[in-house]
Amino acid sequence: MDALVGILHADWFINLVYLVAVLLFVFGLKKLSSPRTARQGNTLSMSGMFTAIVITLFDKNIVSFEMIIIGIAAGAVVGIFMAKKVAMTSMPEMVAILNGFGGIGSALVALAEYYTGQNTITQDMIVYVTLNLSIIVGTLTFTGSVVAFGKLYGIIPGQPLIVTTSKIINVLLLLGSFVMATMLYSDITRIELLYGILVSACVLGITLVVPIGGADMPVVVSLLNSYSGIAVAMTGFVLHNNALIVVGSLVGASGIILTNIMCKGMNRSLANVLFGGFGTGDSGPAVAPKEGGVLQVAKSASPEEAAMVMDIAEKVIIVPGYGMAVSQAQHIVKKLADLLEKRGTSVKYAIHPVAGRMPGHMNVLLAEAGVEYDKLYDLEINDEFARTDVVIVIGANDVVNPGAKTNPQCAIYGMPVFDVENAKTVFVLKRSLNPGFAGIENELFFLDNTLMVFGDAKKTIENFVTSLEEMD
Ligand code: TAP
Repeated sequence: MDALVGILHADWFINLVYLVAVLLFVFGLKKLSSPRTARQGNTLSMSGMFTAIVITLFDKNIVSFEMIIIGIAAGAVVGIFMAKKVAMTSMPEMVAILNGFGGIGSALVALAEYYTGQNTITQDMIVYVTLNLSIIVGTLTFTGSVVAFGKLYGIIPGQPLIVTTSKIINVLLLLGSFVMATMLYSDITRIELLYGILVSACVLGITLVVPIGGADMPVVVSLLNSYSGIAVAMTGFVLHNNALIVVGSLVGASGIILTNIMCKGMNRSLANVLFGGFGTGDSGPAVAPKEGGVLQVAKSASPEEAAMVMDIAEKVIIVPGYGMAVSQAQHIVKKLADLLEKRGTSVKYAIHPVAGRMPGHMNVLLAEAGVEYDKLYDLEINDEFARTDVVIVIGANDVVNPGAKTNPQCAIYGMPVFDVENAKTVFVLKRSLNPGFAGIENELFFLDNTLMVFGDAKKTIENFVTSLEEMD
């Protein structure tokens, strides 16, 4: 028995199990890259996390098991409550605040190390540097995430609050933190310097995110996710914990990759997102509401009229956007597609890389409704619109705005969009002519082959289904 306990506490055994946990994370991440294997990926990653937690309990007895159980129970209650309560449409806010928790968690662990290991932290340069980086990056991730949460939730104005000096302020705050950390190294007992580093990092998080418009918050959230990973990796160096170093690096790297994918989807650079001042309320209209002094009028159709056109369509492409998530229309969308296919119509889905409010937003909803993955197409489907009878745009707006191709004044000019206007008939399902997330008008609504079907998307599609069924 003693031999077994000895092995469980042995460094080589603990490191071996950490290695297994890390491998589970790596293979889990790999499998997450395809919807087909994503569930397995989740299971692998969860097993990795479970393995890491269990072996950490055998590692160093930092706090008592009672404290750990109280912590796990408190976290589980809050987590379950949040997961049950938060609507799918509020996921970006939830992710934003969870990133913040990750950041502040790392910073608090590093602070605890400062208090418990004051005599030793300056003896190892790597520990000292990473401890400070963990405090700085973790704290700015927290305050930045709180601002991002506030902007997404609507309690902080979404407009980009451009302060011309903000870049200089940010550089000064960062440099100030580094100078204070260097001074603290010379005299580790000067606690006021530690407070100074904390305050600078807090303010830096705010001044980094406040100038960015609400429309770019999903990109910022992804970037903050990356920062929270970096903070975790730094904490791993402080605690000499290899699992934290590897897992933090994985989160840091995947956050950056995701940020890059989003920027590419919008055809913008990260610098433009961070400093461009693009966002809710900042963009000019994509089209003049009047053409030659005459007010443009959008034509509309009833769900019954739209169903009559679908009745004779051979090829239909469905383009979902954020509005599908709001109305939770994914199940009825699948029902409509099944019905059309039963009647011999070909149905495909066009999913824009930045449709909705987070990467893969539409894919997740459609997968939940049981839509086959091989029916989902990216921008590669663009050539097909010209050979399509009916396009059904469901609560999408910016991702189908032709202004992105035709109007250099349009704030999203250059962003690749779906060429839905090339189809014979385009039905746009939304509640009004209001602009989308970027706050810009959409000239698609006024084209000859576009018909608006006003109303909540779910209700409208239910009416499509009823009308088509009545025609059978
Ligand atoms: P949006 O441009 O935001 O348009 C969504 C439309 O849905 C709105 O115009 C709204 O019009 C409509 N809508 C809302 N509730 C509805 C309901 N219950 N029924 C029917 N329609 C409803 O959406 P999009 O085309 O998906 O574009 C995404 C935007 O987010 C882009 O600007 C993109 O750059 C930005 N963004 C996304 C990401 C990611 S990763 N997805 C990241 C960064 C930025 P009504 O109010 O008239 O109904």
